[in-house]
Amino acid sequence: MGEFDLLVIGEINPDLILYGENLAPAYGQQEKLVEAAKLTIGSSSVILACGAARLGLRTAFIGLIGDDVFGRFMLDAMQERGIDTSSCVVDAKVATGISIILVRQGGDRAILTFAGSMSELKPKHIDTNRFSQARHLHLGSYFLLSKLQPTLPEIFAEARRQGLTTSLDTNWDPLGRWDIGDLLNHTDLFLPNEVEAQRITKQPDLQSALEYLATVVPTLAVKKGAEGGLARQGQMVVQLPPLPVDIVDTVGAGDSFDAGFLYGFLNHWPLVRSLRLALACGSLSTQAAGGTKAQPTLQEAERWLEIGTGQ
Ligand SMILES: Nc1ncnc2c1ncn2[C@@H]1O[C@H](COP(=O)(O)OP(=O)(O)OP(=O)(O)O)[C@@H](O)[C@H]1O
Ligand SMILES: [Mg+2]
Repeated sequence: MGEFDLLVIGEINPDLILYGENLAPAYGQQEKLVEAAKLTIGSSSVILACGAARLGLRTAFIGLIGDDVFGRFMLDAMQERGIDTSSCVVDAKVATGISIILVRQGGDRAILTFAGSMSELKPKHIDTNRFSQARHLHLGSYFLLSKLQPTLPEIFAEARRQGLTTSLDTNWDPLGRWDIGDLLNHTDLFLPNEVEAQRITKQPDLQSALEYLATVVPTLAVKKGAEGGLARQGQMVVQLPPLPVDIVDTVGAGDSFDAGFLYGFLNHWPLVRSLRLALACGSLSTQAAGGTKAQPTLQEAERWLEIGTGQ
């Protein structure tokens, strides 16, 4: 068994979250007051890594940051959560990106992202020697890692040759192209939300997207927001609702869901148990500001599952 359960390749940036009702920016140099502002751990891939580490998975991260305040904030936060950052590259010639997230009451949000170093992550930054130290490779935010995309099928294939399993959560495509080449052919576990699943497969509805995906990827875990999620292996399908929670914001809920599902996947749990943990991790993560603050430990998630399901 390797030194790490999980190796994550992805983007690294903080989130600046602004809360309020009337958040639309007004030009003409008008100033508006918001109700609250929080600088938190951002980036889908790092939020997933933090969720996994919180559940007890030994987690390492490969990414690129600038030599700046945003980058240092992120590295410190990752290290505090026990994530190995020794393969994160600091390059003074790039600027770490940031997402400004405007959250309205009820949880809906608008996001403005400066990509910065995320789109500068290149094949030369990926230390494939680390693969032998891990059991599993996850890639997050495919569409933001533009300079890495052409090499990703080969990176996943190399991971598999070294005995790792692979997983992918593309998240949203800001360019609306939804083309991931043949990466799914090298993927053991695919974790889209329901809209992403349809866009990537170019199918008109979720059912046909799932039928197609089930022939390509051995395990699927699909997020359905307030409706919960579903998991599928071949013809075996399980579908469950989320936990009832009071939502502060849903930032990173999908990434916390991924962390929970990965925990079950890496421990060879039955599909339904992995999905239950994923939903608990997703739902519980919405109970505090930002993506990581309310991520549960395994015990916390299981305690909630006992209360929520009466088991
Ligand atoms: N309104 C809600 N009530 C309860 N749980 C929720 C709600 N919205 C999201 N969740 C939890 O978070 C999980 C993932 O959420 P969602 O479907 O929003 O993922 P996503 O679209 O990938 O989001 P992200 O923007 O984080 O990538 C859900 O499966 C559920 O467990
Ligand atoms: Mg997502």
